[in-house]
Amino acid sequence: MGVEGEVDLERELIDLLAVESFEPSEAFRARALLSDPAVYEEAAADPEAWWLRQATELLDWIETPSQGLDESDPPFYRWFADGRLNASANCLDRHVEAGRGDRVAFHWCGEEGEERDVTYTELLADVQRFANALRDRGIGKGDVVGIYLPMIPAVVVAMLACARIGAIHNVVFGGFAAEAVRGRMEFSHAKALVTVDGARRRGGTAPIKARVDAAMGAVDSIETIFVVRHTGAECEMRAGRDVWFEEAMAAAAPECPPEPMAAEDPLFILYTSGSTAKPKGILHTTGGYLTGVACTHRYVFDLRPDEDVYWCAADVGWVTGHSYIVYGPLINGATSVIYEGAPDYPECNAWWEIVERFGVTILYTAPTAIRACMKWGAHHPARHDLSSLRLLGSVGEPINPKAWLWYHKVIGGGRCPIVDTWWQTETGQIMLSPLPGIDAAKPGSVMLPLPGIDAAVFDENGEPVEGREGLLVLRRPWPGMLRTLYREEERFVETYFSRFGPQTYLVGDAARRDADGCFWVLGRVDDVIIVSGHRLSTAEVESAIVSHPKVAEAAVIGQSDEQTGQAICAFVTLEGDHEGSEEMIAELRDHVAERIGKLVRPKRVIWSGDLPKTRSGKIMRRLLRDIAEGRELGDVTTLRDPAVMEGLERKIAARRDEEG
Ligand code: WT7
Repeated sequence: MGVEGEVDLERELIDLLAVESFEPSEAFRARALLSDPAVYEEAAADPEAWWLRQATELLDWIETPSQGLDESDPPFYRWFADGRLNASANCLDRHVEAGRGDRVAFHWCGEEGEERDVTYTELLADVQRFANALRDRGIGKGDVVGIYLPMIPAVVVAMLACARIGAIHNVVFGGFAAEAVRGRMEFSHAKALVTVDGARRRGGTAPIKARVDAAMGAVDSIETIFVVRHTGAECEMRAGRDVWFEEAMAAAAPECPPEPMAAEDPLFILYTSGSTAKPKGILHTTGGYLTGVACTHRYVFDLRPDEDVYWCAADVGWVTGHSYIVYGPLINGATSVIYEGAPDYPECNAWWEIVERFGVTILYTAPTAIRACMKWGAHHPARHDLSSLRLLGSVGEPINPKAWLWYHKVIGGGRCPIVDTWWQTETGQIMLSPLPGIDAAKPGSVMLPLPGIDAAVFDENGEPVEGREGLLVLRRPWPGMLRTLYREEERFVETYFSRFGPQTYLVGDAARRDADGCFWVLGRVDDVIIVSGHRLSTAEVESAIVSHPKVAEAAVIGQSDEQTGQAICAFVTLEGDHEGSEEMIAELRDHVAERIGKLVRPKRVIWSGDLPKTRSGKIMRRLLRDIAEGRELGDVTTLRDPAVMEGLERKIAARRDEEG
């Protein structure tokens, strides 16, 4: 990232495009919820009042907060601290009470083409029953409940049932291995886990419960495992611990009044990758988080709940799913799509068939998916009527201008504004994005901080810089921000608030502001890599590789990849006289898949007798990145043994010839 002097065509293209902007059409602007740029000034003049207004306008409170931000103990910020509310009541009860119970909350599409509509009334009934089922198993306020499920309606039921009784959900992405679930359950002292008999992917099935059993034996805190019946796979149910989700619900009482929660009571933990091998348990609380997601979901997506069919194609296991499949849309009373399957199964038109089938009006996805669709070809979307679409969104990584233009033209038919939304698991809510009825979009830019948000680009000394690369920071607390790292308070302060002090949140991304004040996010500055929009830490992957008995040492870097944005490239030193071979590569990839998940399998493995290290023995990943990208090596003066790099360069050159 940011090696000076290097020629980078994509960046030059960005400079050219910085002058090119796409204005929203008059038709869009005329109907948009927000079309007056004065909202920016209004929010900037008194951000606290702005957020307090959002909180009271968009949410139902049991006790209305009298106060916005409490900043008496930075960086431990509190929002709406004297308010009381319940998240599930805001998502469900109030819509049903207002006579909107028959509205579809989710059109669920199964992988084999099954469909099930879930109304607000039905969802509320299921949530109450499962909330009681949790209580029947001794789970209550403050207990942590793990959720490891595919994209089926039960995942929403499980999350909201936790919220209803004040339990803290800890969702683990279904694509992670059971081993990763075990770690996350241990770190969070989870008392129960909700999982499934099996999952489906591209026509096949995976025995999830059996894998969970193999991994979970050692987690003492888990007293109950609820198992959703989905594929019908045979499951061993351990007496006293395991119960069928459906049976537990049938046995539970139908009514469960929502637990009144303080605004600062925890809502959920979500583990995400940091700079070390141990993932960080991002903790979000109730009132601020819900305010942040409700407000941004409504205004960034210009949501009209009575008309729109909204589809966020992310997985519920990532923060995007928490904020923009579950909480934001439900609070706003939206009708959404949930799709269980892959975009290329049974064919590469799967998504476009869904858009046409349900008349999707708003689509929110990641650049990696757009690039995959680009590769499959425009003839797939061309087979379908996509004219219902009126707004497109992007999230997860920088969108390269070419993919932006393709999305705009081929999917959006040239008429839909694109909102490129920047945010993080930590921020909880979208932070930078155009407002589609106000702002123009420049392909590749996340444009501006939303009203109430103060972002800047700092140099090393904490001075704002313009026109060149620096560190992205957030200078003012916002309601949806993380409150701490679960059970790791020091790490929270150290990671985000030590570099520039407790008032300034350090993002971990490099960015640049152009002459119009628009932000261009350039990528991570730490040891985090983003593969197909999935956030991983190099240390996490390294520790999985090194845990293989034949491996002595490994260094992992993110290498730019046309398809996946970044791809994992591992430099591996084997123990003793083990030979690096194709079989060994396959063995390592399987090993990593088992430890963390398939998405973490290295794309390239480079055998190295030794790794470039400083005199103090620290691996110089910067140099590995240089050779992997085929760049001139940067400063090598601190290198202990320069011969190591020469050996590696020869290997890479040979490899490149082989790969053609
Ligand atoms: C990192 C956060 C937020 C939901 C999904 C990712 C990168 C995110 C953008 C964007 C450029 C982006 C950043 C950020 N990122 N959105 N629109 N443009 N980069 O959440 O897994 O916590 O990852 O994703 O590098 O720090 P996450």
